[in-house]
Amino acid sequence: MSKEIVLSGIRSTGNLHLGNYYGALRKFVKIQDDYDCRFFIADLHALTTNPNPADLHANVKKILAEYLAAGIDPDKATIFIQSDVPEVAEMYLLLNMHVGIGELMRTTSFKDKARKALGLSAPAEGDDDEAFEKQIIGSETNKRVNAGLLTYPTLMAVDILIQKATKVPVGKDQLQHLELTRRFARRFNSFYNVDYFAEPYDFDFGGAPVKVPGLDGSGKMGKSEGNCIYLIDEPKALRKKVMRAVTDEGPKEPNSPMAEPVANLFSLLELTSTPEVVKHYRDAYADCSIRYGDLKKQLAEDILAVTTPIRERINDILADEDYLRRVVKQGAEKARESAAKTLADVRQIMGIRKF
Ligand code: TRP
Repeated sequence: MSKEIVLSGIRSTGNLHLGNYYGALRKFVKIQDDYDCRFFIADLHALTTNPNPADLHANVKKILAEYLAAGIDPDKATIFIQSDVPEVAEMYLLLNMHVGIGELMRTTSFKDKARKALGLSAPAEGDDDEAFEKQIIGSETNKRVNAGLLTYPTLMAVDILIQKATKVPVGKDQLQHLELTRRFARRFNSFYNVDYFAEPYDFDFGGAPVKVPGLDGSGKMGKSEGNCIYLIDEPKALRKKVMRAVTDEGPKEPNSPMAEPVANLFSLLELTSTPEVVKHYRDAYADCSIRYGDLKKQLAEDILAVTTPIRERINDILADEDYLRRVVKQGAEKARESAAKTLADVRQIMGIRKF
């Protein structure tokens, strides 16, 4: 029996951090034997925020190297660059004919990005949507909300549907896009009276979700938060970041409750240290003998034990252009094979037929 198709994309903006590693990459490595895994770098999606060309290319290359260094095996999984599959662009045009601009404008991610493009602050409770829409329509051409931002969900739906993926591991912020993908698939099937697309769902890895907090005291690690430890961080810079992580004044009474910034450091310790080390510092917190400086030193070394071999592999891989070229070519060929087949079917179904 053929394996179920798992697809995951990552926008090529910035380096990968510990949150990406524990939240996604490490899990991908574990499932690459059991599923038909396809991992791609969404450079077309990255274009929606108009990066400069040199940065875009450098970022694609970095993420590719980081994926490989983390253990994704190009002979098991299909690793490819979105823009290497031109079938995606054509199907994006075709699917857009069945997507409403209203439903796109109501998408949370669009509203966030449009606000950013217009230089507006975060929405307040009871904000007037109508006024916001007027601002988008009336916006100056130099502060525009580009059409690519609006149709971002169409492109993502195409990524998924063109590969016939049914399992799509995504973060919480992407669940709405996945919901739209299912809606578009159903709409296509019912409009053309076919049973062509299967509806994709979030991949459930089982167990509790991994918590990877940032170093700034609250919230999760995220590249837009500026609180990240990157896989590529050099030891000196990494140690400095960890030593500067937010804490508090320390427990004054035995068995005090733990404030979020400190609990966050323990979460990171739990991911990277041994149970004995975690217990040692938990006990020290409980009896008020803890010194955060010691905890941070330990944490930095334990994180480095995880990231150092990965960082070294990233740098080796980045230096091997031939290898990268081979991987990308092999991935593109495999991805295009499935994409071309789907696109041919979709053209046929929609009535674009050869004479
Ligand atoms: N939109 C996703 C993100 O920002 C990236 C992405 C693009 C994606 N296409 C996809 C994820 C297809 C899963 C499947 O994280």
